[in-house]
Amino acid sequence: MKIAHTIDEVKTLVKEWKKEGLSIGLVPTMGYLHEGHASLIERARKENDKVIVSDFVNPIQFGPKEDLATYPRDFEADCKLCESIGADLIFNPEPSEMYENNFHSYVGVNTLSEGLCGKSRPIHFNGVCTVVSKLFNISEADRAYFGQKDAQQLAIVKRMVRDLNFNIEIIGCPIIREESGLAKSSRNTYLSDEERSKATILHKALEMGKKMIEDGEKDASKVIDAVKNMIESEPLARVDYVEIVDWNELQKVNTIGGPILMAIAVFFGEKVRLIDNFIME
Ligand code: PAF
Repeated sequence: MKIAHTIDEVKTLVKEWKKEGLSIGLVPTMGYLHEGHASLIERARKENDKVIVSDFVNPIQFGPKEDLATYPRDFEADCKLCESIGADLIFNPEPSEMYENNFHSYVGVNTLSEGLCGKSRPIHFNGVCTVVSKLFNISEADRAYFGQKDAQQLAIVKRMVRDLNFNIEIIGCPIIREESGLAKSSRNTYLSDEERSKATILHKALEMGKKMIEDGEKDASKVIDAVKNMIESEPLARVDYVEIVDWNELQKVNTIGGPILMAIAVFFGEKVRLIDNFIME
């Protein structure tokens, strides 16, 4: 497996691969890789001749009060994991390599970015769309792999690719969970042991909400209230949002009919904010 820190190194390899007619799969990550990322890399490995994993904590998707400085990093462990799955290249640029002085160009997707996590993280999705666009251009990938845990991100990237005619297929992959049901996330490392065990309430509450809908409940506010109440029964948890939106425009629905996304964000302690969701097609 090759390690690249510059855009030119990646472009040189990609040029060779393209000349040979090889397909390329890209797995964009911010590093500190866990089983969730591994499942994306494994899928990319199966479906492409070459696999690039980007490992870059993207500063422009963090708000001023967010955890950019403390975001967990372990590049050596990331390299080991990527190598063990058979990735061909890990791309680990410095922020100055991605954003030169006088960087002024940003990509954004209106409407879909405004609700859910976009409400409390107003610049986040423009930062994501911008870095992902750069990675698509640098890697010339045929396919890119994103986890469904960040469902809003997945919907936004798919829409950006459609709207701006990027020549790439976006593949959404299922949420990977710990045995307890807690969705795998690099940010789980911020949790104390007690918070970690209490955080399983997110998945339990979502499962209950899903069952209500499967049993025929169509009133979104009833499902939302039940899920919120269950989470709030846990004293360590503080709800940021519990919402049901249509799985197309990400707008709130009153009556559950077509495909929906039920998404939640919950604070544990002062600074740990966990997200989880389910999609019902
Ligand atoms: O999901 C993430 O880890 C990041 O938002 C991404 C897609 C790698 C962009 O920095």
